[in-house]
Amino acid sequence: MSLKEAANAVRENAHAPYSNFKVGAAIRAQSGTIYVGCNVENVAYPEGTCAEAGAIAAMVAAGETALTEAYVIAGSPMPVTPCGGCRQKLAEFAQGTTRVTMATTSGVEQVTTVAELLPGVFNAAHMET
Ligand code: THU
Repeated sequence: MSLKEAANAVRENAHAPYSNFKVGAAIRAQSGTIYVGCNVENVAYPEGTCAEAGAIAAMVAAGETALTEAYVIAGSPMPVTPCGGCRQKLAEFAQGTTRVTMATTSGVEQVTTVAELLPGVFNAAHMET
């Protein structure tokens, strides 16, 4: 299964009764395994989680800490772009050059990188003393 197919399939499972905006994310880990996530909203709105966060959590729970590619899809008029928090989450496990594809369910794709999504990323080097 491709990243696109995986992201599209998991999007169907999104729990988005408040926004009605279903998002699917698929990431390929260093091993080649694909991990998926969907947004999971909550009646206490701030407790909702993004699709990217779910995919990253699944990867880490499976024992992997490096991702080599990401794909995010939604039924949006333009390719869905990861929120600020998810950009930082992706950066934690990716390289700046890691490819991120943002897509619509109607077939539009936009390809970018983690560094383009989050210039000036806060990273471990900032914490060196
Ligand atoms: N959302 C994601 O899951 N990923 C994104 O990249 C953008 C936004 C979710 C969060 C919320 O459940 C819904 O989309 C509307 O913001």
